[in-house]
Amino acid sequence: MQKIQIRTAEKKDADAICGILVPYAKKKIVLPRDPLEISRHIHNFCVAEKNGRIIGCCAFRDYGNSLFEIRSLAVNSRNVGGGVGSKMVNFLKERISCLGRVHVFALTTSPGFFNRLGFRTVEKDMFPQKIWSDCSKCPKLDDCDEEAVLIEL
Ligand SMILES: CC(C)(COP(=O)(O)OP(=O)(O)OC[C@H]1O[C@@H](n2cnc3c(N)ncnc32)[C@H](O)[C@@H]1OP(=O)(O)O)[C@@H](O)C(=O)NCCC(=O)NCCS
Repeated sequence: MQKIQIRTAEKKDADAICGILVPYAKKKIVLPRDPLEISRHIHNFCVAEKNGRIIGCCAFRDYGNSLFEIRSLAVNSRNVGGGVGSKMVNFLKERISCLGRVHVFALTTSPGFFNRLGFRTVEKDMFPQKIWSDCSKCPKLDDCDEEAVLIEL
């Protein structure tokens, strides 16, 4: 069996991360992020690597006051359902939990995936910071199909 490694991303991974996100961004499942912006925040990303190829990515954003968001989560379509998404979220949960007692949320069209990892579904308006920074620019603003999930670590 081929081994999958989850690791913190490096600058050289930015294009591959972009390549994972683009198909899902086109379907409006994740927010679009360009390689320059990914590069600027690269240390907030983790990647899943299989045989030297990036097959998944996931990032966090620090909103201050011990509030973090899991974002830009995606697994290459050929590799979904193999546990890669869970491993990446758990990797970032461990990284973030080193910073003390924190709240971690996500806005997602896959709440069931997050529920399996211990997140509970909550009201979106608990996160006005997110709504002002990202949702206000999102093409789905008036027709949002995402749910908010939250975990305390
Ligand atoms: C959502 C996504 C990241 C999950 O990654 P994955 O590697 O396929 O997920 P896993 O294999 O770790 O799944 C873990 C469990 O969650 C379940 N699950 C996966 N996606 C799910 C979903 N959308 N809804 C409910 N449960 C889901 C799996 O069946 C599995 O259950 P099991 O433990 O009982 O077998 C992946 O499907 C993906 O990239 N989807 C497209 C992009 C996307 O939706 N990103 C999330 C936006 S925040």
